[in-house]
Amino acid sequence: MTFTINSSNSPNSLTLDNIRPQIKALQPELVAWRRRIHQRPELGFQEELTADFIAQKLQAWSIPHQTGIAKTGIVAIIKGAKPGKVMAIRADIDALPIQEANEVPYRSQHDGKMHACGHDGHTAIALGTAYYLAQHQEELHGTVKIIFQPAEEGPGGAKPMIEEGVLENPDVEQIIGLHVWNNLPLGTVGVRSGALMAASERFTLKIIGRGGHGAMPDQTIDSIIVASQIVNALQTIVARNINPLDAAVVTIGEFHAGTGFNVIADSAFLSGTVRYFEPNLESIIPQRIESIIAGICESHGASYDLDYQKLYPATINDPRIAELVRSVAMEVVETPMGVVPECRTMGGEDMSFFLQKVPGCYFFLGSANPEKGLAYPHHHPRFDFDETVLAMGVEIFVRCIEASGNNK
Ligand code: NI
Repeated sequence: MTFTINSSNSPNSLTLDNIRPQIKALQPELVAWRRRIHQRPELGFQEELTADFIAQKLQAWSIPHQTGIAKTGIVAIIKGAKPGKVMAIRADIDALPIQEANEVPYRSQHDGKMHACGHDGHTAIALGTAYYLAQHQEELHGTVKIIFQPAEEGPGGAKPMIEEGVLENPDVEQIIGLHVWNNLPLGTVGVRSGALMAASERFTLKIIGRGGHGAMPDQTIDSIIVASQIVNALQTIVARNINPLDAAVVTIGEFHAGTGFNVIADSAFLSGTVRYFEPNLESIIPQRIESIIAGICESHGASYDLDYQKLYPATINDPRIAELVRSVAMEVVETPMGVVPECRTMGGEDMSFFLQKVPGCYFFLGSANPEKGLAYPHHHPRFDFDETVLAMGVEIFVRCIEASGNNK
């Protein structure tokens, strides 16, 4: 019997059997990096300590990288010895303006700021992926860019990074990213083809009436009455203007008006958010919002000032790459029930800008562990996740890179 040594099956290659133990051995490091980043949370475009930490690691591992992209963003480049695709991994690195309520040794040392969404975990996973790939450059097919992105929580670091050329030279052919996800239990992965997260938009509205005495309404234009009718009527957009099989949200989050019990308010201030998945709703919803506002104001003799801003588009996965992530995730979680296709959320995410430019996949890595008290929702002052996901995240990234890199 003769053996043919196929490079992709040799014991030294990035084949599946030897990836896991090597990545599991990285787990103490992954936890240490995550906790160090967790201790020093920084808000969007201010991630200087975080960026220094990342750059120091990349430097120590001799991984070429560029800093200062969109202020605090970094891209690392790992060139494999074998030919293949140019792939990117994206991790967001920013924290939130929340006071941490956890009493853990690695709690936030920055008052009023906290990694309450798990981006500290994303950064550690991306560092672990960079480290692993750099150790296996001889067997790696293609080139991998690791993108450390600032300001996902707002105002958004993906778009300026793209504008500064992070997807070019060499041109990225596919991109993958993940979010640790306490809406799913540890040991599960949420991945689907098509829309995973919603488009996110914001509007502010001022209704201008005519103030006056609370006992003499006939002399006034009551901005509270006008605004109230608008709040109710806006709900008919989802109920009556959108295909019931397409999901959308119109939420009014603020309503401020009035100064006294016997005063008719001169003006009222509202703000809200709009969420949807289907690209055709991008124009329909704002048009309906303005036409409802204009009609109701007109009928009362009031006027309005509307400011409507599109924040992030919907996060839409390429079917082929979503299938790749799904098949890799099946092997990593080791149970068919572990891969969850019904995981869409109306949350927004600026990974969407990368996915508009390059086919790719964004997925959720289940990180809740109620038995350890790690199940608070994202953005909660007690948010924390099961750090077992760190090695799982690296393993999924590495396996996806290997599976698609040598598939040119
Ligand atoms: Ni997040």
